[in-house]
Amino acid sequence: AEKVIIDTDPGIDDAMAILLALRSSELDVIGLTSVFGNATTEVTTLNALRLVELEGHYGIPVARGCERPLVLPLGELGTYVHGEDGLGNTFPPLPKGKPLPLHAAQFILEALRRFPGEVTLLALGPLTNLALAVSLDPEAAALARRVVIMGGAAETRGNISPVAEANIYNDPHAAAIVFKASWPVTMVGLDVTTRVIMTPEYWERLYQAGNRATDFLRAITPFYQQFHDQFYGMGGATHTHDPTAVAYLLVPEWFEAPELPVYVETQGRCMGQTVVDWHGQWEGLPRVKVCLGVNAEAVLDLIYERLAKPMESDEENE
Ligand code: BDR
Ligand code: CA
Repeated sequence: AEKVIIDTDPGIDDAMAILLALRSSELDVIGLTSVFGNATTEVTTLNALRLVELEGHYGIPVARGCERPLVLPLGELGTYVHGEDGLGNTFPPLPKGKPLPLHAAQFILEALRRFPGEVTLLALGPLTNLALAVSLDPEAAALARRVVIMGGAAETRGNISPVAEANIYNDPHAAAIVFKASWPVTMVGLDVTTRVIMTPEYWERLYQAGNRATDFLRAITPFYQQFHDQFYGMGGATHTHDPTAVAYLLVPEWFEAPELPVYVETQGRCMGQTVVDWHGQWEGLPRVKVCLGVNAEAVLDLIYERLAKPMESDEENE
């Protein structure tokens, strides 16, 4: 299985993505690293621990990461989308475990050095931890298998601003560093994640499974649905951001992802915009794979299948 570190700011869709990854035997999740974004790092770290514990994965370590962007002051958190607790204001009990006594950036570097060429970094939040890691040791970037980022927007509008997607906007300098580093980067951005839409019927069908993962999602998701309704008028449907990046890891063939030069704007009104240089008119830009198209049906079916199945330990008991 592919070794993966999930760098994350859980977060309602992060929660779904993490459960999906943990339920996918193609992936070997070797650790979670936390970052600010949807809530403070304090809160997202607790949530990362809660999510590994939810279905009994006590052996998966969590390393706490950065609390603010590399150079900018901490901006507004995503609590209006995800709740004060990052989990739809459900305030679940405290996790049993503690984070490692090791910074996320250090955890990432140690894993890359220990398993050269084998570790994939899946980034579901602002890119601060990854940027810090590669700044501490620029040679480490060459050791990563691939870096898959939920973030950015190429041909579509932004979400946190008219032009910017939230994860890039929340630390644009970090994003610029991560895009430029020598590891292969794929951007799973709003061009695809806003086309994978979970309808109220889809959510209902998922809840019918009645396992620990879907019961948890049933509790936390209404807040996220409300946000999508207030902001986009989606009537109970939601976009599928972070889980779509996991789907890309699992079946890249479902995505159209040409390699293109991308510039990350770090200043001004358009801060956080990922500008694709379609015709190669600007010099020196890093080339990354940019997801432009997706088989949304297939992605939705896969997510349903994985989340609705009984827990592995339940299956053994049958
Ligand atoms: C991204 O921003 C966060 O709110 C979500 O968890 C996702 O990672 C979508 O723009
Ligand atoms: Ca996220």
